[in-house]
Amino acid sequence: MKTFTDPAALHAWCAEQKRAGRRIGLVPTMGFLHEGHLSLIREARRHADDVVVSIFVNPTQFAPNEDYAAYPRDEAHDLALCEAEGAAAVFLPKPADLYAPDASTWVEETVLEKGYCGAQRPIHFRGVCTVVAKLFNIVGPDVAVFGQKDFQQAAVIRRMVRDLNFPIEIIRAPIVRDEDGLAKSSRNTYLTPESRAQALSLSRSLRAAKAAVEAGERDAAKLEALIRAETEANGWIPDYVTVADADSLEPRTTVTPGHNVILIACRQGRLRLIDNVLL
Ligand code: PAF
Repeated sequence: MKTFTDPAALHAWCAEQKRAGRRIGLVPTMGFLHEGHLSLIREARRHADDVVVSIFVNPTQFAPNEDYAAYPRDEAHDLALCEAEGAAAVFLPKPADLYAPDASTWVEETVLEKGYCGAQRPIHFRGVCTVVAKLFNIVGPDVAVFGQKDFQQAAVIRRMVRDLNFPIEIIRAPIVRDEDGLAKSSRNTYLTPESRAQALSLSRSLRAAKAAVEAGERDAAKLEALIRAETEANGWIPDYVTVADADSLEPRTTVTPGHNVILIACRQGRLRLIDNVLL
C-alpha cells in the first residue's frame, strides 16, 4: 500500500494507474476509522481496481467553536486498517498541503445544504464541498463512496457532482451500526456509558417509526412526534426530526414509501448525534 502526503505525487500516481486502464475508487474520510469506514472501502473495491483512502481532518468544515482540535486521530491504526482492507493508497495531507495561506476559493452548494445540519453548522458544507472537490481533482476517481449516515452530506455531494460535471459515480453505502443499533461514528468516542445507553433511543425510535410506516402510518407529524417523545424521554433533545424527500430533502407531511427518509439530530449538552432511516 502506498502512502502520499503530496497532492502532486498522488495525482501523478493516479494518472499512471488510469493510463494503465485501472478504475480508481476514492473513499474520503477524516480518519479514526471504524467498521463504517471499512464498509465504504469494501464497497469501493467492488467498483474499482485501486482504492484510494484519504485521511484528513478538514479544518474548513469546522466552526471555531467546534471540535477540530479534539477530533480523534490515530494514524498508525488507520493505516493498518486500510492495508488490511486492501486499499491501494492512502492520502494523508497536512492542512498546508491542501490550503494555501491565502486560499480564497470555495465550492458551495446552496440549496440542499441550507436546512438540517447546515442550519446548525452554517460553514460546514462549504468546507466539505471544497475539500471533496479538491480530492476529486487530485485523485480523478471513477467512483467515490460516502456513507448514508451523513445523509445530507451525500445529497449535497451528489448535487455538486451533477452541477459541476465531475465525471464521477457517487455511491451512498448503508449505515453500519453497533449490535445494539447505535450508528457507528468516530464521535461516539465522546459518549459516556450513560449517554451511549440513552443514545440508543435515536435508532430505536427510527426503527419504531419505520415499523409504523410498514404497518400503514402515513402521517409524518405522528412519526416525528413518536421520535421526539422517545429521544427526549432519554435526555437527547432533537435539533430536528423531519420526514423528507430522499433526493430534494424537502420536508413531507405525508409519507410516500420508497421516496422518503427520516432525518434526525439530537443533542445532550455539548454532544450531538445524527441518524436517519430510509422509508
Ligand atoms: O464525512 C466525512 O468524514 C467528511 O465530511 C469528508 C467527506 C471526509 C470531508 O472532509
